[in-house]
Amino acid sequence: MKIAIGCDHAGFSYKEAIKVFLTRKGIEVLDLGTNSEESVDYPDFAHLVSDAVTKKQASFGILICGTGNGVCISANKHEAIRAGLCWDPEIAKLIRQHNDANVMCLSARFSSELTCIACVDAFIATSFEGGRHQRRVDKITCPA
Ligand code: RB5
Repeated sequence: MKIAIGCDHAGFSYKEAIKVFLTRKGIEVLDLGTNSEESVDYPDFAHLVSDAVTKKQASFGILICGTGNGVCISANKHEAIRAGLCWDPEIAKLIRQHNDANVMCLSARFSSELTCIACVDAFIATSFEGGRHQRRVDKITCPA
């Protein structure tokens, strides 16, 4: 499994901690920045991670900003992306089981680093359930 990860300045330290966690688990990480706490614009990194997942350069994406919402809103503009905001490991599990989420979004300002790592652990360990959830996921995309 390969995971693309990106963040803005608010999420930088969490990104570094999550990279250590994933690498220790033997998971390959594609780090698409940002690489410091210097102020940047969160959509730039949300689009990089979303493009990597869309092009199958990574199985999943992880995005982090202050609230988690800026990156989540940006990622969900990509047709192939289903991004969900996670603040609890159970939510991280449910967005895989029910929504077939391929990107998870985390809040560096409202969730602890430990909670975010627990969310990542739950997200990568969980599969989509299919069945009635597939029918619902099929209805998500709006026709052009
Ligand atoms: C940056 O200050 C902040 O606006 C950003 O990290 C994020 O919370 C936006 O949604």
